[in-house]
Amino acid sequence: MVKSATVLVVDAGGRGAALIHKYSQSKHVGKLLAVPGNDLMGLNTTKNLKIFPDLKTTDVKEIVNISKRENVTLVDVAQDNAVEAGLTDHLIKTGIMTLGPTRMAGQIEWDKAWARNFMKKYKIPTPVYRVFNSTKPAKEFISKNPNKRFFIKAAGLAEGKGAIPAENTKQAFDAIDQMSKFKKAGETFLIEQWLDGEEFSMFAITDGKTFQIVGSAQDHKRLYDADKGPNTGGIGCSTPPLIVNENIYKQAELIIKKTIQGLAVEGRQYKGVLYLGAIVVNNKVFVIEFNARWGSPEAEVLVPGIQSDIFEIAVHVSKGTLDDIKIKTDGNARVAVTGSLKPGIPEKQRELFGLKKVLKLKDVTMYGARVKREKDRYFVSSGRLFHVVAEGKTVIDARKKVYEAMSQLFIEGDNLHYRTDIGWRDLERLKKNDLRS
Ligand code: GLY
Repeated sequence: MVKSATVLVVDAGGRGAALIHKYSQSKHVGKLLAVPGNDLMGLNTTKNLKIFPDLKTTDVKEIVNISKRENVTLVDVAQDNAVEAGLTDHLIKTGIMTLGPTRMAGQIEWDKAWARNFMKKYKIPTPVYRVFNSTKPAKEFISKNPNKRFFIKAAGLAEGKGAIPAENTKQAFDAIDQMSKFKKAGETFLIEQWLDGEEFSMFAITDGKTFQIVGSAQDHKRLYDADKGPNTGGIGCSTPPLIVNENIYKQAELIIKKTIQGLAVEGRQYKGVLYLGAIVVNNKVFVIEFNARWGSPEAEVLVPGIQSDIFEIAVHVSKGTLDDIKIKTDGNARVAVTGSLKPGIPEKQRELFGLKKVLKLKDVTMYGARVKREKDRYFVSSGRLFHVVAEGKTVIDARKKVYEAMSQLFIEGDNLHYRTDIGWRDLERLKKNDLRS
């Protein structure tokens, strides 16, 4: 193993911050780089960290150049659009180790039409779906299926906003019309059966031959409490989700196994983190989507729990020797709450207060996404701003700590928004069990 490795993480947000934090704990890693990174990444490491805020995760040529110039040992290709841009392929050609799939393997995320056809071929349970390339036949299909609920999904990458629920014909027509706003990503789109059930995600690390499950989580996608409001990329998350009992775990594990094996048969050996987005309907697991990376904020609750050296894991994935190690996790519960600006307020720079108090709290970590630092002051202007994560023995315990931490944070003009019910499903389950005992 390398003595003083340099690791480059390609990510802009809280997921990248959680990865920087974890790589900084590796005994092999001496120096960390992030493209583009963010201003709060430095909070989570005492090791030498350099960020490249002017670069995009899709600036393949420049990232390869930096990797050569800075003698990078390993690049963690953590963001979806970097996978689609083929960053892993270019780095492999240069002889640099990577954690992250090639463009062809990553098609399982960046082309949802291809992914559904792949799943069908390998008998992986999916909702019923149809693929369309223009609005007219799609609307004809909707008209022939009145009174049915559907999800209309852009086939390409749409920052977590490409799946639009439609409860009636009018909403379905509107959603079909909205596909064009995703430009190339919405040129092909899917109409999928609406499944009623409970969602969770499961994460596997694989070298394309063997895999290990590192954890499961439950994301909260809607903007407001009680799962109301528009979909976001994910606004809070908890682990472990209690829906994942032994039966559900086995089904999800089998889906992951069939997927990794199927991709290998297709000549698209998958190396990296595979994210199964799943829904449980009457005790049966269906695939909502696969992603070719950690989720965010799922990474923020799962990566901190990895106890094995993450650099060693990444090297084994890259070399195809994952079978040589057993990835250990701490088994703790964690809850992440995502802070954003209050919806609808004009975008302008506002000051964020309370960060230093939060950083001093026990069992609490903060991963920045879009927070700008100016000396000792912090500023925000739009989007998912940061994720506060707390750990505990149970979700109840972690939840209490995370909301205590959130109560210390303020945005100028009282403009901080966050959900106050993250982990509500398991909280209700645990309360019911308490009442029974
Ligand atoms: N949290 C959902 C995602 O990362 O896609």
